[in-house]
Amino acid sequence: MGAPRSPCALGSLLCCCLLSVVLAQRVNVQDEVTGYVGQEVTLPCTFTNASPDVKVSQVTWVKETGTKKQNVAVYHPVHGPSYLIEKGTGRIRFRAPSLQDATLVIAPLHMSDEGIYTCEFATYPLGNEDGVTSLTILAKPTNFAEALEVKAGNTEVPVAACTSANGKPAAHITWQSGLNGNFTVSEVTNTNGTVTVTSHYVMVPTKEANEQRIFCHIDQKTLVQPEALLVTLSILYPPEVVIHGYDNNWYLNRDDAVLTCSATGNPPPTDFSWTTPSGQLPNTVAVKGERLVVRNVDASVNTTFICHATNRVGRVSSEQVIFVRDKPNTEGAGTTGGIIGGLIAAIVALAVVATGILICRQQRNNRREEEEEDLEGPPAYKPPPPSQMTEEREPDAPRYHELPTMEEREAVSNAAPSPEDGYLDQVNPIYDALAFAATEEEAASAALATDKAFIMSRAMYV
Ligand SMILES: *[C@@H]1O[C@H](CO)[C@@H](O)[C@H](O)[C@H]1NC(C)=O
Ligand SMILES: *[C@@H]1O[C@H](CO)[C@@H](O)[C@H](O)[C@H]1NC(C)=O
Ligand SMILES: *[C@@H]1O[C@H](CO)[C@@H](O)[C@H](O)[C@H]1NC(C)=O
Repeated sequence: MGAPRSPCALGSLLCCCLLSVVLAQRVNVQDEVTGYVGQEVTLPCTFTNASPDVKVSQVTWVKETGTKKQNVAVYHPVHGPSYLIEKGTGRIRFRAPSLQDATLVIAPLHMSDEGIYTCEFATYPLGNEDGVTSLTILAKPTNFAEALEVKAGNTEVPVAACTSANGKPAAHITWQSGLNGNFTVSEVTNTNGTVTVTSHYVMVPTKEANEQRIFCHIDQKTLVQPEALLVTLSILYPPEVVIHGYDNNWYLNRDDAVLTCSATGNPPPTDFSWTTPSGQLPNTVAVKGERLVVRNVDASVNTTFICHATNRVGRVSSEQVIFVRDKPNTEGAGTTGGIIGGLIAAIVALAVVATGILICRQQRNNRREEEEEDLEGPPAYKPPPPSQMTEEREPDAPRYHELPTMEEREAVSNAAPSPEDGYLDQVNPIYDALAFAATEEEAASAALATDKAFIMSRAMYV
């Protein structure tokens, strides 16, 4: 054909630029279209023919994925529409096939529909004119979360898993929990371009964490709002067994004696068995699961009952020693008497202590008066050299109630003769013990300026 392939061939640069602008607007497409897997997408493409001299002969959609180019659909005024990559499915079609409207509809969308689509109008005399649309496919992920059954232990393990499968783009997973755990995230990109994101919640599986609730949060572009999936943890642990029902008052011929074996655990123990150290159960007892019923207490029940509780994780036992009495235990009444007696004893003891304190205060006041007569100002009292403190005093336990040894007294009086020393001889040990309790606080404040190691000892002498 003699017709110029490009209008620029016509001549002037000005003409070329003007025509380009006009041409660029003739094929109308959207640059980017986003669709969702399983749904419908429309790729608009129309031809605006400004000049009656331009004839359109055919419309073609070409799809480009990577380096591969394929004809998707062609419309020819005589032959009609034809669909080249999927024949007869009707999944890809022109909306209203004509030489002016090449709009393409794809439904339901597949991941593989993603690509660059070029809508081409074959015209005369201008040649091919086209518009390019990039189709992006998003996929809504399938989200789920579950607890991973683990045995209680000391090392960190995954206790829950949360998965956002086959989504596009990749989902973002976080966890919400009051537990002291952490989480990992991993992603796998499928061949169809979707991404499966998996997250594990990791923690030390304590039995206290059993039945705790944590949430997996999944955020992804196709979700209207982030999804929160609840996970109730399941930490397996062996039974913890306790026997109830023994009141320490099983007497001969009692007929309502029952022991109950109660056990917690995960899974909850359902398998209970009773035995005795001899391996035989007395004839007078009947076992119903976790209950052991004694029909009539006799000497054969004077033994130890052992309950075994079993779950998937372990078998644990507990025992109860039974003491069979000849007669019912009447200590219950005695117990009340005992409590009253104890109270009276305590009151008497308190009174004695109070009296002691009063006496001791009085004595001390008397002594202070004497001291004040003898002394001008506070007693000058210095600790012995450090060597004596460490070598002689430390190996001994506290000796606050004791009187100093002769050497100690010498050491003290050598270091600093004190008028207090004279009183040490007068102090009798009982008074000493009482004075200690009463003067502990006062001594601490009175001796503030004194070396710490001596505060308590000195308190005894005052
Ligand atoms: C959680 O895991 C990350 C990376 O694995 C680690 O850096 C961080 O210290 C962990 N935090 C806790 C509380 O264990
Ligand atoms: C993508 O691939 C995964 C795994 O091959 C598959 O399970 C999933 O259904 C696919 N998704 C779509 C939208 O085709
Ligand atoms: C039960 O055994 C204890 C010793 O283990 C014994 O003192 C007591 O008398 C026994 N009771 C009966 C009723 O045999």
